Amino acid sequence: MIDLNTKLLHENEMEEAAALIRAGEPVGMPTETVYGLACDAGNPEAVRKVFAAKGRPADNPLIVHIADIADWAPLVTEIPPLAQALAEKFWPGPLTIILPRSGRIPAITAGGLDSVGIRFPAHPVSQALIQASGVPLAAPSGNRSGSPSPTTSAHMLADMDGRIPAILEGGSCACGVESTVIALDDEKTVRVLRPGFVTPEQLGTVAENVIVDPAVLAQISADTVVRSPGMKYKHYAPNAQVTLVQGGQAEFLHFMEQHNTQGAAALVFDADVPLCQAKGIRCHAYGDTDEARAAAFFAALREADAEGVRHLYVRAPRTDGVGLAVYNRLIRAAGYDVVTAE
Ligand code: TXA
Ligand code: MG
Repeated sequence: MIDLNTKLLHENEMEEAAALIRAGEPVGMPTETVYGLACDAGNPEAVRKVFAAKGRPADNPLIVHIADIADWAPLVTEIPPLAQALAEKFWPGPLTIILPRSGRIPAITAGGLDSVGIRFPAHPVSQALIQASGVPLAAPSGNRSGSPSPTTSAHMLADMDGRIPAILEGGSCACGVESTVIALDDEKTVRVLRPGFVTPEQLGTVAENVIVDPAVLAQISADTVVRSPGMKYKHYAPNAQVTLVQGGQAEFLHFMEQHNTQGAAALVFDADVPLCQAKGIRCHAYGDTDEARAAAFFAALREADAEGVRHLYVRAPRTDGVGLAVYNRLIRAAGYDVVTAE
């Protein structure tokens, strides 16, 4: 029986969370990237509940989470040496590897694709839940479809209260941006479908070639066939209109002076704050390094809504390293409204 309100469970209530999973219910789960909405990956009825709670399109596949590197073999039809080498280097951690799925993964979990993305998360609470449940866990990010991903249990509760039985508490997510999703083009080549904390540069220490899929930085129309269905959907968007502003500090400040209407606010680097304040521009900072910005930007998008911001102008991060992951999410949050300040 599902209570009307979603229960917050603590780590010492792991068995209660695992019992819900085994009973085919979805449970909120912290990971080092973002909170996920976990369920038994092999139970189509449980997976259906996850899609329903999120309002997620049925063709957008779920990532399957394991807690031991040996546990991916039964879930896929083959593990090429490059995939094994990547898993050994980056797991547990924020990397999802797509391989052909075995019969253990139902079609609904894979969004109807013949492949499955596998990830071994680093967060001790997600590892404990997978172990206690005794099954691989399918888990998309724990937000309502289209909204910013949750990096705290409070964010997840705001989206999911009354829609799922429970969320496991696990603090703030250290990475703050979802896992890097990769496919293998051939035995030497990795294709990055979604950038994350494991960067193309790091993947290049294991793979001979690393291709960043063009969809990472470009707009994909809804009728395009893409390698990763998530690339084409509206994503990460707060209620506020978002514009991503490229350019240096001086150019950004000049742009903001021209766009400083009522309801406008800026999301900037830490060093920009005093200069914005001196010009009477309402602003919040989201960090001074790529990693800090990754950990902060989803919360900042939610805060803008809480404060009634109508138009949020975001100073664009870099497009290399972890910055690429933040940039990839922000262009989608902005509905591809990207301008260059001069
Ligand atoms: O860090 C993460 O990956 C988090 C945590 C909870 O683990 N999960 C997450 O899941 O971000 P989700 O469902 O919000 O995003 C998964 C992305 C989607 O863009 C989806 O299209 C893509 O991965 N994906 C999953 N399986 C795929 C597959 N078999 N082929 C291509 N793309 C896939
Ligand atoms: Mg998501």
